Amino acid sequence: MQTIRVDTPSAKYDVTAGTGLIGSLAPRIERVAGKLPRRVFVVTSPEIWALWGEAFTSSFPEAPITLFLAAGEKHKTMASVEKLLRQMAAAGGDRGSLLIALGGGIVGDVGGFTAAIFMRGIRYVQVPTTFLSQVDSSVGGKTGVNLREGKNLVGSFHHPLAVFADTAVLGTLPDRELRAGLMESVKAGIIRDRSLVRFMEEHADEVLHREPKALEKVIAASIRMKAEVVNKDERESGLRMILNFGHTLGHAIEQVTRYKVLLHGEAVGWGMIAALYVAHRRKTITTKQAERMEALIHLYGPLPPLKLRAAKLVAATGADKKNVGGVRRFVLPIGIGDAGVAEDVTADELQAAAEFMLGRAAERLA
Ligand SMILES: NC(=O)c1ccc[n+]([C@@H]2O[C@H](COP(=O)([O-])OP(=O)(O)OC[C@H]3O[C@@H](n4cnc5c(N)ncnc54)[C@H](O)[C@@H]3O)[C@@H](O)[C@H]2O)c1
Ligand SMILES: [Zn+2]
Repeated sequence: MQTIRVDTPSAKYDVTAGTGLIGSLAPRIERVAGKLPRRVFVVTSPEIWALWGEAFTSSFPEAPITLFLAAGEKHKTMASVEKLLRQMAAAGGDRGSLLIALGGGIVGDVGGFTAAIFMRGIRYVQVPTTFLSQVDSSVGGKTGVNLREGKNLVGSFHHPLAVFADTAVLGTLPDRELRAGLMESVKAGIIRDRSLVRFMEEHADEVLHREPKALEKVIAASIRMKAEVVNKDERESGLRMILNFGHTLGHAIEQVTRYKVLLHGEAVGWGMIAALYVAHRRKTITTKQAERMEALIHLYGPLPPLKLRAAKLVAATGADKKNVGGVRRFVLPIGIGDAGVAEDVTADELQAAAEFMLGRAAERLA
């Protein structure tokens, strides 16, 4: 079991990573929240509840009120939030109520946002059940929903009282989801934690076979990295930006494929490969380092094949050929375990990086 402290100007709380937490949540929550209030709500999806509902409920003297959110990005909407808010009001929720988000990043973002605005804000706890949500979305206080006009356009900063990341719960996660989530840990290592890179290289088998100790190690290190960055820059005015490594072209791939072909982590995997190319060309990493980091990405693949046009991806980053500035900010690794933000990456460089990446993707197709 490992505990990582989030300590920002607006909130201080612990993230606990370990095996079997799901069966002892009630006493753990009482330790941080005091006696459980009259109304405890759990927001989850039917699939997750079917797998983990019983274990979740086992430690509560009185079963929490279960509220369902259907799985899928298309339900990460204001309409879902309003439905949850109304169910909570109808069930007698009040300012003292507690909400628990039990699920992946979608449940966490929607549940967290619902907690942020119900009665102008109630307390909530995150129990992330996907790898991605354990290492990334449950930590940092960002909550919100999508609009038809774009992803995550509405939301608020609302930190949980605590986060409980249970490696046992990952036992039922589809392999593809696990591998995609692991890309955020690869990212964490590359930008900030050389020893995590090494561990992931040396223990890939154990991690991919979900050996609890190995998972806990990777999850805790990834959370520690994110917490450390968020502690220094809660509102993303500077340092927090480095968390976007691999995300400029990653988001472009997701946008161009309308979020339908790749999982987020897979798009980030390809985006990191493109960013490594830019970094190598700018000599912030050596050839050997570039090869080593790309090998690590493929080790946790396979990344799905891509058949796209480079120019379309560059356009989707918002970079303009005529604009010498290219993209406004681009995260580049410096060696292994450090990163910086470049403000002068040009559209031409992005084009070359996208072509390189698509070449790699074509090799995978062959
Ligand atoms: N708030 C943040 O800082 C932040 C950061 C990164 C991503 N996000 C958001 O997170 C979302 C993606 O989250 P995600 O990758 O967790 O996807 P997700 O929430 O859609 O979950 C993926 C799938 O796995 C299923 N699932 C979840 N846990 C399971 C388990 N233990 N066993 C079996 N199946 C399980 C879900 O039902 C779903 O079908 C996106 O909406 C993204 O915008 C937010
Ligand atoms: Zn991401």
